Amino acid sequence: MYSDKVIEHFQNPRNVGEIPDHDGVGKVGSPVCGDLMEVYIKVAGGRLADIKYKTFGCGAAVASGSMGTEMVKGKTLEEAMRITDEQVSEALGGLPEEKLHCSNLAAEGIQSAIKDYLSRSGAEAGQD
Ligand code: FES
Repeated sequence: MYSDKVIEHFQNPRNVGEIPDHDGVGKVGSPVCGDLMEVYIKVAGGRLADIKYKTFGCGAAVASGSMGTEMVKGKTLEEAMRITDEQVSEALGGLPEEKLHCSNLAAEGIQSAIKDYLSRSGAEAGQD
């Protein structure tokens, strides 16, 4: 049911935790299942210098947070902002239909953390 990549990221998730002196934090919940994800970012030179996440969600959410944070680490804020749930689930080798919303927690959490950073810094929001 799950790809090898999902299982590998679930068993050995990257970037788990908090960044106490973060520059931005996103806290999002899934309307589908009610599970939560928190994403913490550090920004330097317009890029995501560091990113960590915590999820109170299922295994697919753990794998999505791991993969999503890996995908945007080091990217510019504009690049990271464009991440989608489809990209996260594709990078994981696909998710079962009923688990697609779990990858959305990662994409939304990342975008929400960047929005938080932008609103704190008063920078131009490069978002829709
Ligand atoms: Fe809630 Fe996956 S079922 S995040």
